[in-house]
Amino acid sequence: MKTILSLAPVCFLLLSTSIVSAGIVGSAHDFAATDWSAGEICLPCHTPHNASTTATSAPLWNHLETTATFTMYNSATLQVATETEPRGPSKLCLSCHDGTVALDSFSNMTGTNFISGAFNLGTDLSNDHPISIKWQHQTEIPPGCGDCHFSSNPTVPFPNGFLECTTCHDVHNQTTFPSLLRLSMQGSELCLHCHYK
Ligand code: HEC
Ligand code: HEC
Ligand code: HEC
Ligand code: HEC
Ligand code: HEC
Repeated sequence: MKTILSLAPVCFLLLSTSIVSAGIVGSAHDFAATDWSAGEICLPCHTPHNASTTATSAPLWNHLETTATFTMYNSATLQVATETEPRGPSKLCLSCHDGTVALDSFSNMTGTNFISGAFNLGTDLSNDHPISIKWQHQTEIPPGCGDCHFSSNPTVPFPNGFLECTTCHDVHNQTTFPSLLRLSMQGSELCLHCHYK
């Protein structure tokens, strides 16, 4: 009995850290506490039934997709042109983060709550790191070939060979880095993973 009692705080600690620090629960994408989410976490983005048949970059997608026209990143030194419009999972992110589609526009409802402040990237992406750009080793080839080439679960994934929002961010917050990032910004580790500077 004594052993069981003394283990109890340890179990609680393990339980609470796994919930709080690595998962969607309690993250910026846990909308359960809002008055528009029906108290659910997954529902604003996924549904078990009547999901979108057009959004194929995420399974069982439930959120209204943006139809905005975007201004993409461009520069004189860019070696590979971005796609003319955001594609793949980036388009799904922008279906809340471009500020044109309400957060609560899901399950075929038309919502009224919009994203605000720094979370709103707008439709002008010319001042944001390029997305929907084909990865062709166009940055100075970084070392650490193995993480990208021999791992079934690479640190930074390239959906269909493209750099997207989900390359740098994990929408479900499976890591412990701030801003849902896949790598630390301490010493700019994330940037150095691709840019050999
Ligand atoms: C804010 C939107 C959002 C929320 C909330 C969300 N997801 Fe996702 N989910 C996505 C996107 C976007 C993708 C596809 C891109 C990716 O996997 O990075 C995805 C992919 C998935 C996948 C397939 C890929 C994988 O990671 O296994 C599963 C399964 C999944 N989500 C389950 C869930 C569940 C279960 C919940 C609730 C606990 C949830 N998601 C909450 C946006 C969301
Ligand atoms: C259903 C709408 C919705 C979708 C879809 C969505 N987001 Fe968000 N996201 C939000 C909201 C709302 C916030 C701000 C929450 C707050 O006010 O704290 C947010 C916050 C964030 C943050 C800041 C996190 C932090 O801790 O500061 C990042 C990064 C982010 N989202 C990335 C993404 C990416 C990448 C995708 C696509 C894979 C995505 N989001 C899809 C609604 C969404
Ligand atoms: C940040 C992730 C990343 C790193 C680091 C990386 N690669 Fe790649 N590499 C990729 C991706 C993604 C592809 C495209 C794979 C595909 O299209 O199937 C690729 C493609 C290639 C190709 C095929 C070229 C082509 O045109 O199809 C070669 C060869 C290659 N990498 C060698 C290397 C070597 C050698 C290193 C280390 C010096 C390295 N890579 C580091 C992600 C990376
Ligand atoms: C090359 C990596 C990279 C890509 C691609 C990327 N982000 Fe980010 N994002 C970051 C970093 C790094 C931060 C944290 C910046 C900071 O803390 O100063 C961030 C922060 C954010 C934030 C929080 C804003 C804030 O000021 O707190 C949101 C929301 C966000 N990103 C959404 C997106 C969306 C949506 C996309 C795709 C359209 C995207 N990101 C693509 C690296 C990236
Ligand atoms: C997943 C790989 C990846 C990560 C992580 C990444 N980048 Fe990039 N970055 C790229 C690619 C690919 C390009 C497009 C380069 C090209 O085509 O010339 C790019 C473009 C850029 C450019 C514009 C170059 C130009 O010539 O216009 C800058 C600046 C930049 N990145 C800085 C950063 C910073 C700062 C970070 C960290 C917050 C970062 N990158 C993280 C892959 C990455």
